[in-house]
Amino acid sequence: GSLQMYVDALPQMAKIRGYGFQRGQAVPINLTIGMYQKTWKFHRDLPATPVFVYGQCPDSATFPGPTIMARHDVPLFVRWENHLPASHILPWDPTVPTAIPKNGGVPTVVHLHGSAHPPQSDGSAFAWFTAGFAEKGPAWTQATYRYPNVQPPGNLWYHDHALGLTRANLLAGLLGAYVIEKPEVDTPMDLPCDDDDLHLVIADRSFNVDGSLYMNSTGVAPNIHPQWAPEYFGEAITVNGKAWPFLVVHRRRYRLRILNASNARYFNVSLSNGLPIHVVGSDASYLSAPVTVSNLLLSPAEIFDVVVDFSQSPTAEVELLNSAPYPFPTGAAPGPLNGKVMKFVVQPNGPLDPPDNSTVPDHEVPYASVTALPPTTMTRYIVMYEYLTPTGQSTHLYINGLRLEDPVTETPKSGTTELWQVINLTGDNHPLHIHLGMFQAVKMQQLVNLQAFTDCMTAVNDAVKCNVDQHAVGPVVPVPDHEKTWKNVIKVPPGFVTSVVIAFKLVDTNQTYPFDTTAEPGYVYHCHVNATSNATCPSYWVNFFF
Ligand code: C2O
Repeated sequence: GSLQMYVDALPQMAKIRGYGFQRGQAVPINLTIGMYQKTWKFHRDLPATPVFVYGQCPDSATFPGPTIMARHDVPLFVRWENHLPASHILPWDPTVPTAIPKNGGVPTVVHLHGSAHPPQSDGSAFAWFTAGFAEKGPAWTQATYRYPNVQPPGNLWYHDHALGLTRANLLAGLLGAYVIEKPEVDTPMDLPCDDDDLHLVIADRSFNVDGSLYMNSTGVAPNIHPQWAPEYFGEAITVNGKAWPFLVVHRRRYRLRILNASNARYFNVSLSNGLPIHVVGSDASYLSAPVTVSNLLLSPAEIFDVVVDFSQSPTAEVELLNSAPYPFPTGAAPGPLNGKVMKFVVQPNGPLDPPDNSTVPDHEVPYASVTALPPTTMTRYIVMYEYLTPTGQSTHLYINGLRLEDPVTETPKSGTTELWQVINLTGDNHPLHIHLGMFQAVKMQQLVNLQAFTDCMTAVNDAVKCNVDQHAVGPVVPVPDHEKTWKNVIKVPPGFVTSVVIAFKLVDTNQTYPFDTTAEPGYVYHCHVNATSNATCPSYWVNFFF
């Protein structure tokens, strides 16, 4: 049977301030955040679900974890502690490259997604650790991570990144939101604030009747990987840890920070009564000016920061709908369950309601646009391959034909800007995530004679030798205006060359990073479907050092 929709109120995660105060000045602090097993009520009528979640103590740990509110230019130190039990609550496949501790325990490591920080604080997949740091991966260097928060204000998130277990650890609940605030930039915009500034962390999950999380543990290519499946799609849509919740709103503007924390599902969200969505930012940066849209496509790990003016609502109830096929874009259309996300119940304003002084600001954020950058110093070709069995089952996903375990391939220099020509030879759209750098797509052009190009690439693995310029002559699809800012995830369409400009520097100041980017273990870039597929999509990651 299926669960009744809109019976649980949308909760907000607790906020943790990521800085202290001394004589009126924001100053660095140390936090300790643990990972705990507990149970979580995803729905009124569903038995409590065993989960792995983040919190400052077991009682306060939530699905998603607490929202960390950091301050621009004020470093935050976080000691991440693993308090998880000896065995996992979900199946995982040891035939893909995976952290396997000798004495049991659940390997974990935390990545602050979208952040500019030293490599030792990046949460390398090989820097995993088990409870009490009893066992550690080969790249482990330190228990306390340093987040300098030197980049522009914006929305980030933190999540698990352990080798081969990322998908299972995220499914279990190891994820949370993180915001960098910069009052000089944020405050003059007069965006909706306090109770009108909300997070919507969307994640699809399937449940067994006993309430436990369901994850298919039959591999798509069982002779090669007995349990690994490259994608996970859940039937229930949860927001902030509740399945299809409702939220009572007043007739005023709300700021909604929408994060798609799903493993593989894309969401194309819209409001059922046609209310416009005013996009003010995406991922870790504001747009140069707001863009009004009727629907928003979010890949896994993508964030949009939007304003919705419920005073304009023509109806008393508004559903947030999803129309994205899964897998995207060629899969099945969503049905009556996964086609709905949540419901807003619009209340008439009462006489005691404070006036709404917020705006959809006509702000200027000069650093948001790529045109402000000096010319790129380096062009690289980044090719996504999917390897299939003769019967068409996916067995490996590689970038440039290489595995995560292979040696470092890219060595960009801090302070420079590069052009990456990202060529997607798979059948699906992929969310490309590059650690440390901030980037934006500037052009998407379809490849012609794709089969010939793919055959050549599979044989030669060299875009220039395979005459990429003679194939990249198909139609150009414009990059949507609401994605023209410094992103940390971009959607790479199948059969296209997507031109991506990456700034390996601080885009608002043009400064190099104030930390050593050349140290071990370096950084990675990867397809973010890995984060939740049945393994880490292990080979979609290539290390690179600066
Ligand atoms: Cu959001 Cu390498 O991950």
